[in-house]
Amino acid sequence: MYKFTEKTLIELLSNGLYEEVMHEWETPIMHSMAEWVCKDGGDIIEFGFGMGISATHIQKQNINSHTICENNASVLVNLYEWVKDKPNVTILEGDWYDNVNVMSKYDGIFFDTHRDKNAKHLPLVLKDIAKPNCKLTWWNNLPEPYNEFSLDGTEYEVLDVNPPKNTYFNHKKYYMPKYIIK
Ligand SMILES: C[S@@+](CC[C@H](N)C(=O)[O-])C[C@H]1O[C@@H](n2cnc3c(N)ncnc32)[C@H](O)[C@@H]1O
Repeated sequence: MYKFTEKTLIELLSNGLYEEVMHEWETPIMHSMAEWVCKDGGDIIEFGFGMGISATHIQKQNINSHTICENNASVLVNLYEWVKDKPNVTILEGDWYDNVNVMSKYDGIFFDTHRDKNAKHLPLVLKDIAKPNCKLTWWNNLPEPYNEFSLDGTEYEVLDVNPPKNTYFNHKKYYMPKYIIK
């Protein structure tokens, strides 16, 4: 179950513990990721709405369309409220992996899901959903140029960050992946 607080999105786990899914401190990272995937405009897809921080920044870029895929019911409630004044947004409800067949082709892909058992399939579907020279980035949870998708040619922009103590990322450097799908 997800719970929103003022600055965080938290998942309450079945063992009674909780885990932070998203936190406001990530805002500068989300902005840099959004600017990278929207660099050349066009049609953008985002996997995971969360707190809408990246989505709101994507909307400020010079883009054509913005597709958002989200599978959590409480996040979807906020997403449907947020989208009301945003005519270029399409919502795909459900697990992104079950939505690949209804996706179009995109110029930018912003991948930021959480506890996603299908994340490992992302490299396999990229060719189906990417236009030539599509920009891709994803959340990198390690403070190094770690490449969970083994996408050769990925570059990293190193961002200085200052997170408050949290349950998932407590480092001062964030290695933002930048990959171009040829
Ligand atoms: C870390 S948050 C995204 C944060 C977002 N970038 C922001 O700026 O607020 C992860 C989001 O991915 C969603 N999610 C997790 N697994 C998913 C999946 N398989 N398909 C679609 N959405 C998923 C979660 O419900 C959550 O809203």
